[in-house]
Amino acid sequence: MSTVIATIVGARPQFIKASVVSKKIKEYADLKEIIIHTGQHYDYGMSEVFFDELEIPHPDYNLNIGSGKQGEQTGKMLEKIESLLLELKPDLLVIYGDTNSTLAGALASAKLHIPIAHIEAGLRSFNKKMPEEINRIVADHCAEFLMAPTQTAVNNLKNEAISENKIFLTGDVMYDSALFFGKLSDTKSTICNTLNLENNNYILATVHRQENTDDNENLRIIFSAFIEISSQIPVILPLHPRTKKNLQRIGMNDFGNNLKIIDPVGYLDMIQLEKNAKLIATDSGGVQKEAYFYKVPCISLRTETEWVELVESGWNKIVPPKDINFVVEEIRKSLNFVQRDYQYFYGKGDAAGEIVEIISNRFIK
Ligand code: UD1
Ligand code: UDP
Repeated sequence: MSTVIATIVGARPQFIKASVVSKKIKEYADLKEIIIHTGQHYDYGMSEVFFDELEIPHPDYNLNIGSGKQGEQTGKMLEKIESLLLELKPDLLVIYGDTNSTLAGALASAKLHIPIAHIEAGLRSFNKKMPEEINRIVADHCAEFLMAPTQTAVNNLKNEAISENKIFLTGDVMYDSALFFGKLSDTKSTICNTLNLENNNYILATVHRQENTDDNENLRIIFSAFIEISSQIPVILPLHPRTKKNLQRIGMNDFGNNLKIIDPVGYLDMIQLEKNAKLIATDSGGVQKEAYFYKVPCISLRTETEWVELVESGWNKIVPPKDINFVVEEIRKSLNFVQRDYQYFYGKGDAAGEIVEIISNRFIK
């Protein structure tokens, strides 16, 4: 009899992470994966495009939860995931990262005594005002298999008294993804030509974190700084729908000619935008790391990061959006970044292989 793995995904970065793990699962005849999409992200450019491009099997179930307040969204997911797990009776639930979909999957599964594998376990910002921090802590404490991407993540878990035999240092599945799809992107994406971007002569920016989008002051500072720096070097910004909504809410709609705001792009286009940028300015967890994978300097528009090794190595600088001049000056300094030592913090590019091996050793009889 096959071992049945139910995988919960719901938000953009989870489709990217799941793509490499799903591919590995398929290599095992005795493992069967059922993909459950919560519907947390639902626009074509936030969801479907990734299934099309990354050849992830289309979800077996879409719960169509959609957007909502933190508790409302998580609660609706919890109810539907529980019903589905009761029906499917999987041997294992796989969850990724730190979104509300992760939290709902963890809670539903833990209460039904279905073991959980948490991929990207052990990340901490130590800032409990972030919804993601709560999600991570709960997910880690519900899980049986904690797949940690870095040694720092392992240490964080040990510091929370999580039993060592549950913790596995596997490397980061996003690094696997970056290597695998990086090559494909080189041959398939033409976005830099289409947008007339000159190699190594533009800034790529993304903004979507709640503490930036829902705080009028932070949002204004970040976008004003981008407008100002764009008179020196073009800025290209694929806009998250959350940020779009909040820019409209505060009435900010004139960005000049050199801050180019575009719709969210697919992963293959995003990789080209990242690889060819002179600098990346972001509040995204995934984009910070991809900057490093492709050896592009980065500034993080936040007060802290979970990926501390990037900051310690000097490739990433934390730039809290406290005032416009400060952000502009920090961007200017980082434009003069000098290449430095490069270490492989995130494994060998086969984290997905390690993860599926751990699962198969435990479950396949
Ligand atoms: C979520 C995750 C965040 C992750 C991000 C990845 C939580 C708490 N947050 O944040 O950790 O970094 O996904 O992108 O789970 N919207 C649309 N169309 C969509 C999706 C969202 O218009 O397809 C808009 C809606 O107005 C929605 C808002 O974006 O209210 C926020 O979406 P939501 O999924 O709640 O949070 P994200 O900010 O995307
Ligand atoms: N991404 C993408 N298109 C975009 C913006 C981001 O494909 O327009 C990818 C990006 O390359 C990374 C992931 O989405 O792999 C990061 O997702 P996001 O920034 O939404 O979330 P976070 O990583 O902060 O949770």
